[in-house]
Amino acid sequence: ICQVDDVQELQRVCSATVPERYIRNGDDRPDGAGVEVRAQERIPVIDVGELQRGGEGELDKLRLACEQWGFFQVVNHGVEEEVMEEMEKVAREFFMLPLEEKEKYPMEPGGIQGYGHAFVFSDDQKLDWCNMLALGVEPAFIRRPNLWPTTPANFSETLEKYSVRIRELCLRLLEHIAAALRLAPGRFNGMFGEAVQAVRMNFYPPCPRPELVLGLSPHSDGSAVTVLQQDTAFAGLQVLRDGAWVAVQPIRHALVVNVGDTLEVLTNGRYKSVEHRAVASGEHDRLSVVTFYAPAYDVELGPLPEFVADGEPCRYRRYNHGEYSRHYVTSRLQGKKTLEFAK
Ligand code: SIN
Ligand code: FE2
Repeated sequence: ICQVDDVQELQRVCSATVPERYIRNGDDRPDGAGVEVRAQERIPVIDVGELQRGGEGELDKLRLACEQWGFFQVVNHGVEEEVMEEMEKVAREFFMLPLEEKEKYPMEPGGIQGYGHAFVFSDDQKLDWCNMLALGVEPAFIRRPNLWPTTPANFSETLEKYSVRIRELCLRLLEHIAAALRLAPGRFNGMFGEAVQAVRMNFYPPCPRPELVLGLSPHSDGSAVTVLQQDTAFAGLQVLRDGAWVAVQPIRHALVVNVGDTLEVLTNGRYKSVEHRAVASGEHDRLSVVTFYAPAYDVELGPLPEFVADGEPCRYRRYNHGEYSRHYVTSRLQGKKTLEFAK
């Protein structure tokens, strides 16, 4: 059972130093030896409106984005700007509350919902420069209503409205992703059952020594798809491409989408669940609101037969998604290590 600090408090009380537990070893630092950061590259931008109109060119772009990047931004995505702005506002208001207030919604050690730090399992593990509020949203049985903040007063209502819109977007994206793979548009949605939707809000306060810490350790997501909303002051999210980190430059009112482990398995590796991390800034704080969309826990997963034809080796075993989810949330964030479960 590990004691973990609140980084907003750390930043308030010891303004010039960073505790040892946050200081990464050389290679793990944002600009460590042997770490390449490519400043010029941009992840693809996909116009969902164009996909909805049946644009073949856009569908090709989506296919390439999923094959070559595993990450892209979406515009004309149908989530109203006001809904996004309101979500950002209540999330920020929550993180700005006094610690005693936020601690009314504690994440249990080793737990995954509430306010605190997920993925911490030992006292010598390096910590991320980040505070989190994580909540299960759908299906209803995963909700822990006592962990949904009552301050600000409209938090729950706002998250509810936001989540409905994001869920619609996930369903649409999975249809287009299936179409891009020449599958029936309903192929993924049809097999996901009562899909699981969870949200994690990450708040990264400014750090006095950003070059020594990570906001969030490198990892891939366990979801089918993840939809991330971020504010625009600082490009803190970085995506691994060909061994180098590429920063995701925020586009106002765009959303960032990435392929998760589930789609990598289903497509037998055609679409990759890509490693990503967050870095901290010396000047800016940063908020991200991240939605994970995944199959129901009782769904059995494995490469779809369409991707094991023509002598293609089957790269993953069959497994139960609930077991995979449990494995994911009880493991450290560590690159693509969790996917070894499926090997
Ligand atoms: C995440 O990978 O869950 C969040 C990364 C970010 O804050 O951009
Ligand atoms: Fe992630």
